[in-house]
Amino acid sequence: MGIEVVVEGLTKSFGRQNIWQDVSLTLPAGEVSVMLGPSGTGKTVFLKSIIGLLKPEKGRVLINGVDMVNSPEREIMETRKLFGLMFQDGALFGSMSLFDNIAFPLREHTRKSESEIRRIVMERIDIVGLLGAEGKLPGEISGGMRKRAGLARALVLDPQIILCDEPDSGLDPVRTAYLSQLLIDLNAQIDATMLIVTHNLDIAATVPDNMGMLFCRNLVTFGPREVLLTSDMPVVSQFLAGRREGPIGMSEEKDAATLAAEQTNGHGHAAGPRTVVPQLEPSPGMPVRQAALRRRERVVSMMGQLPEAARTAIMNSYTPTLDGGRR
Ligand SMILES: Nc1ncnc2c1ncn2[C@@H]1O[C@H](COP(=O)(O)OP(=O)(O)OP(=O)(O)O)[C@@H](O)[C@H]1O
Ligand SMILES: [Mg+2]
Repeated sequence: MGIEVVVEGLTKSFGRQNIWQDVSLTLPAGEVSVMLGPSGTGKTVFLKSIIGLLKPEKGRVLINGVDMVNSPEREIMETRKLFGLMFQDGALFGSMSLFDNIAFPLREHTRKSESEIRRIVMERIDIVGLLGAEGKLPGEISGGMRKRAGLARALVLDPQIILCDEPDSGLDPVRTAYLSQLLIDLNAQIDATMLIVTHNLDIAATVPDNMGMLFCRNLVTFGPREVLLTSDMPVVSQFLAGRREGPIGMSEEKDAATLAAEQTNGHGHAAGPRTVVPQLEPSPGMPVRQAALRRRERVVSMMGQLPEAARTAIMNSYTPTLDGGRR
């Protein structure tokens, strides 16, 4: 089962530029979470801080009792082995075949035999649907295939925590839909804790158990997917609707005068209540997603603290339909 990641009061700056402050959230063990946020709000910096590649000035990131910010580097390195990381740009070595790229972490971090490595690599290549392409160079395949190769490489060390930085960037809508299903199937198979950074509204609406958003140097919200999907906070509804009207401007937040002008022009109000589409289920033949069962108990126990709209959406999603399935 995946491992819980507890983030407490995290603050990160580069020189005098504060990226975000006092970010606290818990990624529940084995569940899938999505982090949204306009470009430049520090999502990639957040992922790098979780695995200890960047050092926030304040706060803690606790994984199995190890603080990825302040613990001795040796413990951080050891804990980093629990992670699979899929970079925003794929980050494959251009001169190596896909096979060698995907085998790289195994050759680097384990003493496994070549035949064992071959077995593991081919299995991961199969999972991401790249069988037959293992001999190709990254430059010889499409962007979508490179993305999937990056995911296969993130999986070879049997990660218990998977971080994906914009796994959908550069993918067409159909491939993005396949990727969404792949992430859910993967979660059903390995029960790893997953955090996905994305701008893609379809992924946000259908994949995660939990969702958060970074904006304006703060974590706007983090919690069960229904909370964000039904939120009437202007920044959230603007982002989810992909509208120009609202607090998000071209280079982060808009000034007060522009916002006020929008309000008087009648553009400021949020569009009516949004419908929450059902979360993806694992493909037929996949195991039951254990995280979904745990999540159900967890979310039902916190119902009292959730906004009305989120409660209704959660109740609807857990109401059996006539055919016996979930809606
Ligand atoms: N190593 C670094 N040194 C200095 N500044 C940095 C560094 N890494 C990131 N930044 C700054 O931190 C801010 C957040 O960057 P980050 O890459 O995390 O944004 P993001 O939310 O991932 O954006 P996008 O959606 O475009 O990928 C940016 O202003 C960036 O210039
Ligand atoms: Mg980024």
